[in-house]
Amino acid sequence: MSEMKDGFVEINGLKIYYRLYGDGDVKLIGLHGGPGGSLDYLEPLADLSERGVQVLLYDQFGCGRSSDPPDESYYTIDYGVEEVEGVRKAFFGDRKVFLLGHSYGGALAIAYALKYQRNLKGLIISSGLSSVPLTVREMERLIRELPEQYRRAIQEHGERGEYDHPDYLRATEEFYRRHLLRMDEMPEPVKRTLDYTKERRTYSIMNGPNEFTITGTIRDWDVTHRLGEIGVPTLITVGKYDEVTPAVAEVIHSGIRGSQMVIFQETSHMALWEERKKFIDAVYNVILSIR
Ligand code: ALA
Repeated sequence: MSEMKDGFVEINGLKIYYRLYGDGDVKLIGLHGGPGGSLDYLEPLADLSERGVQVLLYDQFGCGRSSDPPDESYYTIDYGVEEVEGVRKAFFGDRKVFLLGHSYGGALAIAYALKYQRNLKGLIISSGLSSVPLTVREMERLIRELPEQYRRAIQEHGERGEYDHPDYLRATEEFYRRHLLRMDEMPEPVKRTLDYTKERRTYSIMNGPNEFTITGTIRDWDVTHRLGEIGVPTLITVGKYDEVTPAVAEVIHSGIRGSQMVIFQETSHMALWEERKKFIDAVYNVILSIR
């Protein structure tokens, strides 16, 4: 990893924490998921800084070390889009950048491209989505495929809103083990992001009680019908066992003309940790082909 600088920058009136890796000529901004996560788990993207790419990560509003917005009306993807644009301008002026969004960050990157693609060199949607309702339907299919005891715990306690019931939590853990992170040990930076997710309010406001119960402000978001408006070179990546499933990625791939898609065979939602080198290589190859 090249040299890292970090600090706070004021974006649209909020104090936003950032990390900037390397000083390469190609610029890439990474958007974390959650919504309500933090930049920590995106750390593998810093590997790109050894290959001439300057990588900027930041904690989105109400996330990680960044400040909370003034009231609940701010917790929207539209506000997130203006924040991405504010960050791009603050660090890179009128330069075009690569935008990489993971998971909800992928949804945010798509929303950004729909408004500001003139500022993009390329788009990388990693385990991302263009439709929350489709993503939830797919997650419900994955729940139906869990062993009976877990499936029932999620269905029965979920219906009653008993999200803290020990059986429900055990079943959630099983879902995460299969579809969120298929590793024996959770890497420290991923843990840090999960801790921030619990500590701050944004995940429960925008997402909901857990990954597959999306009842927050993003619940109806769906821009699938607008994907044809995106004309920048786009890479879509997904894991074979991803909680945001290959079917969701396929919808994005068929919607964005000329896009490329890579399915990582050994991974779930965190290919950047589970198949780190392959993931970084896939992103770098796309950057190389269009830089
Ligand atoms: N909640 C999922 C994420 O952003 C979709 O990680």
